[in-house]
Amino acid sequence: MSRLNSILSKDNLSKKDLIYLLSLSDEKDIEELFKWANDLTIRNLGNEVYLRGLIEFSNVCSRDCKYCGIRKSNGKVNRYTMENSEIIKAARWIYKRGFGSLVLQSGERSDSRFIEWVDHILKEIKNISNGELGITLSVGEQTQETYKQWFDSGAHRYLLRVETTNQELYQKIHPAGYQLNQRIEALERIQKCHYQVGTGVMIGLPGQTIEDLADDIIFMKQKDIDMIGMGPYIPHDNTPMAKLVKNFNPEKQLQLALKMIAVTRIYLKDVNIASTTALGALDQKGKRKGLECGANVIMPNLTPDKYQKEYKLYANKPEFLASLRKDFKALKSEIKAAGKNIGFNKWGDSPHYFKRTKKERIEN
Ligand code: 5AD
Repeated sequence: MSRLNSILSKDNLSKKDLIYLLSLSDEKDIEELFKWANDLTIRNLGNEVYLRGLIEFSNVCSRDCKYCGIRKSNGKVNRYTMENSEIIKAARWIYKRGFGSLVLQSGERSDSRFIEWVDHILKEIKNISNGELGITLSVGEQTQETYKQWFDSGAHRYLLRVETTNQELYQKIHPAGYQLNQRIEALERIQKCHYQVGTGVMIGLPGQTIEDLADDIIFMKQKDIDMIGMGPYIPHDNTPMAKLVKNFNPEKQLQLALKMIAVTRIYLKDVNIASTTALGALDQKGKRKGLECGANVIMPNLTPDKYQKEYKLYANKPEFLASLRKDFKALKSEIKAAGKNIGFNKWGDSPHYFKRTKKERIEN
């Protein structure tokens, strides 16, 4: 048996194994890795892909992360905040189309007006969908009280990317005063409030090593994470970090991101993994490729067109086309091309969450 096959057949991979898999460079080996991850996904989670309609409801942000196009000090962005009626309209569309759930994402704010507003929107969405639409929030670090309030108002999943688990690198890509441990503590607060917890990292950051990525995967397992959203880092011109990137190679970056998805699937097994928008920014078929190597969730962007232009976290971020109907058809055929079916009208929760909470109930 080849070294690759003997590693893939193991029950418990070591850090060394993870590094080996992430470092594969032979095309055939990579293909084998992707196939293994895809087979495992189908075995553990079935053949369905779950949809989350993404609404980027505001690009106003109080943070100044050095990689992000909507960072506070990027003066070239027109700041917007969607009207309630626009958010509800998008939510209705998502509901009627049978997506089963949506994601509300925005820049980070923690003022009380924002907290109450999000709370109101959560209740409205629950109301117009007879409680049927699942709601994921992705609005950054908040207090335990806020996380609890939003959970009680109907959000049941929360995404907060840790971005990288390497302390030094975390410091480098954020302004002074942003701490990795604050981020991790926020994830713990989310978990305490009974959400399904999602996190993830950026892949291919300047200065990031393969060992860092292996540590990220191990972190996600240690923290009992339920959902993973991660994607390639893509430089954005109006950010300080873009200056650190020389010879950006989209193909290599995509390949590394796909390997990361595959290895994460193999190591974590039963979590939900999203095939993220950033994959699609590097390659038209990027999202399909993600579904073919371990991802089982897609988050089509349903932010109204006029706002999408202003929510550019990175260069070439694809916009969902003006005609939703047309694009929905394209999305369906991409999912079909990946050999998968859409799980309509389902929340598509992470099986890991149920196992984790069952274990917790038994232990307590
Ligand atoms: N490239 C890739 N991903 C990015 N994000 C922000 N900026 C970039 C970039 N330049 C990701 C971060 C954040 C998520 C909302 O978008 O991981 O958590």
